[in-house]
Amino acid sequence: MELTPAVLLVAFLVWAEGSSLPHSSHRSLRKTLGPSSKDSLCNHMLKHLHNGARITVQMPPNLEGHWVSTSCEVRPGPEFLTRSYRFYPNNTFQAQQFYYEDNHCTKPTYTLVIHGRLRLRQASWIVRGGTEAEYQLHQVQTVSHTAAKAKELRQRLSRSCRGATKGPWEPGVIYVLWNEEGGYDCSRELNFTMHELQLLRVEKQYLHHNLDHLVEELFLGDIHTEPTQRLYYKPSSYQIPLQNAKNHDHGCIVCRIIYRSDEFHPPILPPRADLTVGLYGQWVSQRCEVRPEVLFLTRHFVFHDSNHTWEGHYYHYSDPTCKHPTFTIYAQGRYSRGLPSTRVMGGTNFVFKVNHMRVTPMDIATTSLLNVFNGDECGVQGSWQVGVEQDVTVTNGCVALGIRLPHTEYELFRMEQDARGRYLLYNGQRPSDGTSPDRPEKRASSYQMPLVQCSSSSQRSNHNRGDDDAEQSLLHHNGAPGWHGGCTKCIAVLLITATLSKLGSSLGFFFL
Ligand SMILES: *[C@@H]1O[C@H](CO)[C@@H](O)[C@H](O)[C@H]1NC(C)=O
Ligand SMILES: *[C@@H]1O[C@H](CO)[C@@H](O)[C@H](O)[C@H]1NC(C)=O
Ligand SMILES: *[C@@H]1O[C@H](CO)[C@@H](O)[C@H](O)[C@H]1NC(C)=O
Repeated sequence: MELTPAVLLVAFLVWAEGSSLPHSSHRSLRKTLGPSSKDSLCNHMLKHLHNGARITVQMPPNLEGHWVSTSCEVRPGPEFLTRSYRFYPNNTFQAQQFYYEDNHCTKPTYTLVIHGRLRLRQASWIVRGGTEAEYQLHQVQTVSHTAAKAKELRQRLSRSCRGATKGPWEPGVIYVLWNEEGGYDCSRELNFTMHELQLLRVEKQYLHHNLDHLVEELFLGDIHTEPTQRLYYKPSSYQIPLQNAKNHDHGCIVCRIIYRSDEFHPPILPPRADLTVGLYGQWVSQRCEVRPEVLFLTRHFVFHDSNHTWEGHYYHYSDPTCKHPTFTIYAQGRYSRGLPSTRVMGGTNFVFKVNHMRVTPMDIATTSLLNVFNGDECGVQGSWQVGVEQDVTVTNGCVALGIRLPHTEYELFRMEQDARGRYLLYNGQRPSDGTSPDRPEKRASSYQMPLVQCSSSSQRSNHNRGDDDAEQSLLHHNGAPGWHGGCTKCIAVLLITATLSKLGSSLGFFFL
C-alpha cells in the first residue's frame, strides 16, 4: 500500500479537522438511525448485531483443536468443497480439503491432505481484528474418490510433475503431490496454496443466550476470485467460518458428518433440492461483514417482486464489530431475473441497476473526506455534515465513494434453508481486484456471506426516529471525549485514504 503525499495531506486535514469540530447536534443524529426502529424484526436483527453483545474475539487467537465446515462451500471457479482442519499444540496442522462434483457436496471427487506448520505473527494492519500468520508446508497428498477423477488428475499432473505420476493412479490410494524433500511439485498445477492461513480470526459466541452453549468460529483468509491470481494473493477478507468441532452448534449435522470423515471416507452431505431463488421480502446481514481492505459493513435489502424494484441499505463501519459508523448508503433501482447459471451449479443469474442513491456520512473523517472533493461530483460541494443525508442522484452518484449512476451489476444468487429453517440468500462475491461486476464476464462464481430473511413482506414500517437505545449508543460512539490517544481514528483515516489512492480516488464502495 502506498501513501502518496496528497493522501497524507488529506489524512492530515481530516485528522486536524476532526479534532476541532464541535460535536454533531442531537438533531442531526436523530435523522440517521436507519437500522434502529423498534417495530421491525429486520431492524431489531441489525441492531442486535450492532451491539455485538454476544460475540467475543480472541486476540491472539487460540487455534488448537479440530475445525470443520458448516455447509457445502463454494470457491471461485467454482469449486465445491468441505474443510476439516486440525491445529496441534506443537504449532503443526493437518488440513483436509474435500472436493465435490456438485453444489450440495454429495459426490466427492478428490481430497487434499496438507501437513505443515503455522506461526502467528502480529495483529493485521490491513484487516482490523484479524491476526496475520505465516505457514510452512511439510507435505501435500491427494486421494481420488472415483476412477475418472484419478485418471484426470494424473493426466493433468503428468504435464508438469512426472515424478509423482509414474504408473496409473487408483482411486482410494494416497499419492504425494509435494513434500519437503523436494524433487517435484505437483500442487502448483492445481494452483494449490494455503494462503488462507495468512489471515485468521477466532470468534466465540453464546448461542440462544445460553451460557452452556458456546460456539467457536475460525475465519480464514479469502480466496482470490480469479483462480490464476490465487498463488499471489494475500487475503484481505474472510471465507465463511469453520466451527470448532468440540462444541459445534448441535443443529449442525454437516459438522458432525465432516468431523467423522477422513481422506479415505470423505464426507457425503445429505442430498437437497436446489431452492428457486425468490427475491421478495427483506433480508439482513447475520454478522458484521468484511469487504476486501478496510470496509466493515452490514446490509439490509428490500425486494419488491411485484414491480422488480429493490432498495439497499448499507451501513459502513470502521471497526470489525460494526460499532463505529462511518457512512450509510441507501440505493434503489430495478432488477431482472436471468437464467439458471450454466457456470455455477445451483446459482441463478440476475441483473441489478442502481438509479437512486443517498449518502449519510456518520463520522467526522468521512464527512471531511466528502467535503474535500471538488466540483459537483458528490452532492452539494462542501455541504456535508455528520449525520445529515444527501441525495446524490442529481450528481450521478458520488465520485468520492467511487460510484457513478446509473450503475449496472451482473449478479449471481442462490438460496438455502439453514438448520433452523430460515431462508438464507447468497449473492456473488465481489471481484478481489476491487472492480465491480459491470460486465457479464465479470459475474461472480462464488458467494459472499449469506443474508437471512427477516420479513417476507417488502413493506417497511416507518422509521421510529426517536429510538432511545440506538441514539444512546450512537452518541456514545460519536462521543469524542471518550477517545484519547492510541490513534485508532488516525489509522482508520490513513487506511481510508490509502484505499482511496489505490482505487484511483474512490472509497471503494460497492453495491450488493
Ligand atoms: C505435532 O503433534 C502432532 C499431534 O500430536 C503429531 O502427530 C506430530 O508428529 C507433531 N509434530 C512434530 C513436528 O512434533
Ligand atoms: C492455474 O493457473 C493458471 C495460470 O496461472 C491457469 O492457466 C490454470 O487454468 C489454473 N488451473 C486451475 C486448475 O485452475
Ligand atoms: C414498487 O412497489 C413497492 C411496493 O409494492 C412500492 O413501494 C414502490 O414505490 C414501487 N416502485 C416503483 C418504482 O413503482
